[in-house]
Amino acid sequence: MTVTIVGSQLGDEGKGGVVDLWGDNADIVARYQGGDNAGHTVVHDGEEYKLSLVPSGAVRGKIGVLGNGCVVNPETLFSEIDALAERGLSPDVRVAERAHVILPYHKVLDGIEETAKSDSDLDAGTTGRGIGPTYEDKAGRRGIRIGDLLDPEVLRERLEYVVPQKRALAEDVFGVEVGDEFDVDALFEQYKRFGERLAEGEMTVNAGEFLTNAIKDGKNVMFEGAQGTSIDIDHGIYPYVTSSNPTSGGAAVGTGVAPTIVGKGDVVGIVKSYLSRVGTGPLPTELDGDMKPLADQIREKGGEFGTVTGRPRRIGWLDMPMLRHAERASGFTGLAINHIDVLAGLGDLKVGHSYTLDGEEIFTVPPTTEQWARCEPTYKEFEGWDDVDWSAVAEDGWDAIPDNAQTYLEYISDELDTDIFAVGMGPDRDQTVILENPLE
Ligand code: IMP
Repeated sequence: MTVTIVGSQLGDEGKGGVVDLWGDNADIVARYQGGDNAGHTVVHDGEEYKLSLVPSGAVRGKIGVLGNGCVVNPETLFSEIDALAERGLSPDVRVAERAHVILPYHKVLDGIEETAKSDSDLDAGTTGRGIGPTYEDKAGRRGIRIGDLLDPEVLRERLEYVVPQKRALAEDVFGVEVGDEFDVDALFEQYKRFGERLAEGEMTVNAGEFLTNAIKDGKNVMFEGAQGTSIDIDHGIYPYVTSSNPTSGGAAVGTGVAPTIVGKGDVVGIVKSYLSRVGTGPLPTELDGDMKPLADQIREKGGEFGTVTGRPRRIGWLDMPMLRHAERASGFTGLAINHIDVLAGLGDLKVGHSYTLDGEEIFTVPPTTEQWARCEPTYKEFEGWDDVDWSAVAEDGWDAIPDNAQTYLEYISDELDTDIFAVGMGPDRDQTVILENPLE
């Protein structure tokens, strides 16, 4: 059996909590895109673990796979594994030999390009992890893959081809003087050692084969999407996007498991009951201007600061056109709606039900970001709900959820014509009402 977890908004919908919860029934948790731009916190036996690359299931003794669609920074990977080992854990992480490697020059170029783009407001507010430049090299057929680290001859050949180009780009095009991050010999030595460690730990796999065989053997596999639909490189608010496909199609392409197999399992859209955004670009339902104090309140209450960057997140009302778009792009079979506790005690609430674009009412996200920036939301108002003992509610189940919150949740489910599988009402693992477990 499989389940695919997809962020339905702008990332940070609380996917980690759901992955963690349903991950108990998974044998393998596989990431299919992104890299160490993602951030999740796992609480296990009272201990808090902050991870950005190692799949959270690995903390709980599951096999974690980084699929071919991921971009892997071996430095981050090993420092996370070492940090977990120091705390007594021995995570079992496998990395696709087809996954691309983030090198130091990718991080430097990420910073250089963001600065250059900021003159024309085209900077995406990246996490600075080198994600975009690495995917660029993948598409440009000059990338270095995990499998290449295992073969020093191939690694040397690839570096000798690509590094001078990168140096010229930094120095001659952007006029920035660079250092060891662009030195073939230094990179070769460092990355050859990473390859040796991967080989010694028998950490590399032919991911598609490994996962497909596991599924055929009756194992449960969870495909864990990072980021969210509206920052998908194809379906998001380009160019203010990440460089991969968080939508469910990415689960097949990014692991090598056939879409017919992925499509037999559930695809669960993770929804935050309001919006948050760490990067730049338009956000029609943003709480700005007079509404800033309310945004500040939600940000504080919801802890809306970037896990990777620590940046304060922008806040907005729930945006239904964004969710309809996400549901269509990924074909959700279920929803997990998070953070209803954060909206408690704020008085009446609004939801962007539709947009008006050039005088016409539309119900989904338009294809260009310029059109999206012109969209004026039409709001639907909802009566708010009070703060309650959310742990008690979670224990008692759906009927204990405050009536007004139930109305809000049912509206989302009806609009998307998709059942609710879980409702999150607090950061702890047991502060969730589970209506359906897709791996049971
Ligand atoms: P990058 O993925 O670092 O290239 O950043 C591109 C855009 O995606 C920026 O707007 C980031 O803020 C956003 N982004 C990347 N990863 C995450 C995430 O895990 N959560 C939310 N936003 C993200």
